[in-house]
Amino acid sequence: MVGLAPGTVWAVSDLHVAYDANKAIVEAMRPAADDDWLLVAGDVGENFADIEWTLKTLAERYATVVWSPGNHELWTPKDDPVQSRGVARYEALVEMCRGYGVHTPEDPFPVWNGDGGPITVAPLFLLYDYSFRPEGATTTEEGLALAYAAGIVCTDEFFLHPDPYATRAEWCAARVAYSEKRLSAVTTPTILMNHWPLVREPTRILRHQVFAQWCGTELTADWHTRFGAHTVVYGHLHIPRTTAYDGVPFEEVSLGYPREWTAHGGFRGPRRILPRAGGRP
Ligand SMILES: [Fe+2]
Ligand SMILES: [Fe+2]
Repeated sequence: MVGLAPGTVWAVSDLHVAYDANKAIVEAMRPAADDDWLLVAGDVGENFADIEWTLKTLAERYATVVWSPGNHELWTPKDDPVQSRGVARYEALVEMCRGYGVHTPEDPFPVWNGDGGPITVAPLFLLYDYSFRPEGATTTEEGLALAYAAGIVCTDEFFLHPDPYATRAEWCAARVAYSEKRLSAVTTPTILMNHWPLVREPTRILRHQVFAQWCGTELTADWHTRFGAHTVVYGHLHIPRTTAYDGVPFEEVSLGYPREWTAHGGFRGPRRILPRAGGRP
């Protein structure tokens, strides 16, 4: 019998701490209680030192910190002293996290035994494979051509290197296979946490639909039901909101850029994921 522990699971993403106003938000961020967990769903920043400062700072304050990488962590910025690319950069980030006790997609999944538990918190790193194609495109090449023609091209094309994979889509396929295998062994309900949404629907409100191809993969369209998700946590879109698919809540928990969160009326802090008001859906 698992005892109930107090505490709250919070989630946030897209901290983008290269912006001073965002860094100030991280500096001010505190748990509500000693037992609180914080899920950080990617796009902490671009420079290795910024990412390390943020995760170290949060790990000193929250009982448990869980991190999934976003596309920005995986960039290799020209001015970053850490010049590793692709898988090597990801592995360096994972090692850095382990030094501070931060859980990554390469570690055993932590289990929440507080109110609503046991629930397995599964940080995922799935990337995207250009399968969220724009209307009129039947291949990746056609989808990308439409994006280039519209002048809407994700910066990942220039800074997110897939080495040693040939393409980001190949890296995505490998990540999906690895994650699918690990999730298949989980026997409790899950919190699935991934920088990119697991289903395409949240991208339908993007102003530029050609951008959706950098936002996920069709390969995970049924994971929220197949892997017993209590909640799916994601970011990347910078459109914080709660939606539901097949009765499963999807929480977009981004802070976003200062111009975005000021336009949203300010940042109200990380989103509460557990315990969920009203109990399990
Ligand atoms: Fe972001
Ligand atoms: Fe992102």
